[in-house]
Amino acid sequence: MTTERASGARIHVVRFAPAKLNLTLAVVGRREDGYHALHSIMVPLSLGDALTASASPPGAVRDSLRVTGLALSSAPDNLVLRAIAAAREVVAATWPGAPADPPPLAARLAKRIPVAAGLGGGSSDAAAAIQAALAVWSTTLDPDAMASLAASLGSDVPFFLAGGVALITGRGERVEALPDIHGEPLAVLLVTPQVAVATATVFGAYAAGARGSDERAAEISEHLAAEMRAGGLTSAALVVRTAELAGANDLRAAAASLVPGLAGFLTALEKLVDRPVCQSGSGPTLWTLYPTLAEARKAARFVRLGAVNGTLPLVGTGEPFIAATTIAARHAPPSAEPPGRTTGTIRPRTVHNGFDAGGHGPAGPAAEPTESKGDRLDES
Ligand code: C5P
Repeated sequence: MTTERASGARIHVVRFAPAKLNLTLAVVGRREDGYHALHSIMVPLSLGDALTASASPPGAVRDSLRVTGLALSSAPDNLVLRAIAAAREVVAATWPGAPADPPPLAARLAKRIPVAAGLGGGSSDAAAAIQAALAVWSTTLDPDAMASLAASLGSDVPFFLAGGVALITGRGERVEALPDIHGEPLAVLLVTPQVAVATATVFGAYAAGARGSDERAAEISEHLAAEMRAGGLTSAALVVRTAELAGANDLRAAAASLVPGLAGFLTALEKLVDRPVCQSGSGPTLWTLYPTLAEARKAARFVRLGAVNGTLPLVGTGEPFIAATTIAARHAPPSAEPPGRTTGTIRPRTVHNGFDAGGHGPAGPAAEPTESKGDRLDES
């Protein structure tokens, strides 16, 4: 990336780690490695975490992580720390200071994406951590090494590394970029019951036979991918097809079989918002689309009221996470020479990933157009 290491300047990297939605999720087979073969159209959201990384202070011997916002363990099994460690292992092979490894990093994660919710938060944090670590170490990896590093950390990580709307196939490692959806940024209402659902358990239930009667997910997904590839999909056209998307997630029945009350919760939510409701990934996050963020925000307020007055049944341990956000435009690639370069000084240099949050211009996480409840983005 740059040669800041030689100059002695400390680099301070901030990366926005977006959540994702699966517009479609078709399971199209079982692979020899035990994973399921997928056909899924995924979009990044303007809701996301913020990951900050810099070189640890002198004397530190291991990577550190501080988490603020939603509750999440900062133990070594956190995907951020695992991603930094895995990146170090790959980089170490060609590290010029050998035998010393790339130095320890101090990372901070402002957590806003609900955990184990089908929104890809952990995978997005892992992708951001790889990119942040490489930037702090002022190094790069070739695309093949990057791809296998990403896939080794989780099936959704390659999608987040690529950034932008994409068709995912294989177990998730094959990412075909698709054109952005045209028109006004589409707004999304997210409703996540307070119950963590492990992806592996949901795929396990699917493999054991928890499947819906309607098997149209693959057909809908292929059709939508073809349309998007041709570049003709508008947000107005997608919004009217929400009912179709609601039938395009093959893991919906499996999630419902594992979470008592989820099916009833979905039906109640559909009644409350008077529109079809879809599931993201392996769940339990439910979502629906709106033409504007103002409408999604209004719906979020209405759903919050429903959660309080009992119109919406309680699932899990408390009130659901409810947020209005937008489908985000493609990542602007990080600049090779970000502004503020201060060669030879000790002033920390900040590198952002210039994420365009829903067409509202380059924006950090504090500026993204998301309204949510019960979470906090602590950038201090
Ligand atoms: O890759 P990741 O760690 O996110 O996957 C978690 C688990 O979900 C896997 O161990 C596997 O059991 C299941 N899975 C699957 N097929 C996929 C992705 C995940 O069976 N394509």
